[in-house]
Amino acid sequence: MGLIWLLLLSLLEPGWPAAGPGARLRRDAGGRGGVYEHLGGAPRRRKLYCATKYHLQLHPSGRVNGSLENSAYSILEMTAVEVGIVAIKGLFSGRYLAMNKRGRLYASESYNAECEFVERIHELGYNTYASRLYRTAPSGPGAQRQPSAERLWYVSVNGKGRPRRGFKTRRTQKSSLFLPRVLDPKDHEMVRLLQSGAGGPLNPRQGQRSPTSPGAEGLRKVNRGL
Ligand SMILES: *[C@@H]1O[C@H](CO)[C@@H](O)[C@H](O)[C@H]1NC(C)=O
Repeated sequence: MGLIWLLLLSLLEPGWPAAGPGARLRRDAGGRGGVYEHLGGAPRRRKLYCATKYHLQLHPSGRVNGSLENSAYSILEMTAVEVGIVAIKGLFSGRYLAMNKRGRLYASESYNAECEFVERIHELGYNTYASRLYRTAPSGPGAQRQPSAERLWYVSVNGKGRPRRGFKTRRTQKSSLFLPRVLDPKDHEMVRLLQSGAGGPLNPRQGQRSPTSPGAEGLRKVNRGL
């Protein structure tokens, strides 16, 4: 039943009245910019603001880190690929946030299973993003001490703006807490400049991008990757 609703809503999305029965479902999670309820919908443009005060950045080189200043590479497109599972793509790097089996964050050129993250809501409006693929397994029944719980590997940016390895992260650490922020007027201005071709060296790929429907294109890519 719930699934049918989601399907219907994604079909009806553009014309669906805001006050209709689907309004609650369509809203961002808690109005805080999460993407839970947009399964099959267009990507959401967001910046991920870490509680360590850095915005997550995806560089064209494949590097992932944080920025204290306004940066084009921190403008992201977030898409729900399943309920509670998101893909996070850098608008101007064209790369997807990914975590490898060693717990390192990188920005992947192509979409693959390492690019899927479990989005969870935490206290104070922050979300966490855990690798869907890799985690620390609980110690088995043969272990001498009490079997420890399974631990998830979180996306994390430390107090120096550097990513932490997944196995060193905890969901209670500031570095694992992110606030999905909608773009502010400055961000919109930057997007407009870079996409109109007036952008500087920050955006070497601007010519390849359709300014009208980067969202639809991104979603198709995500879907192809599944
Ligand atoms: C993030 O990476 C970029 C590109 O490599 C670099 O210029 C910048 O200094 C890095 N920032 C931090 C906080 O490490």
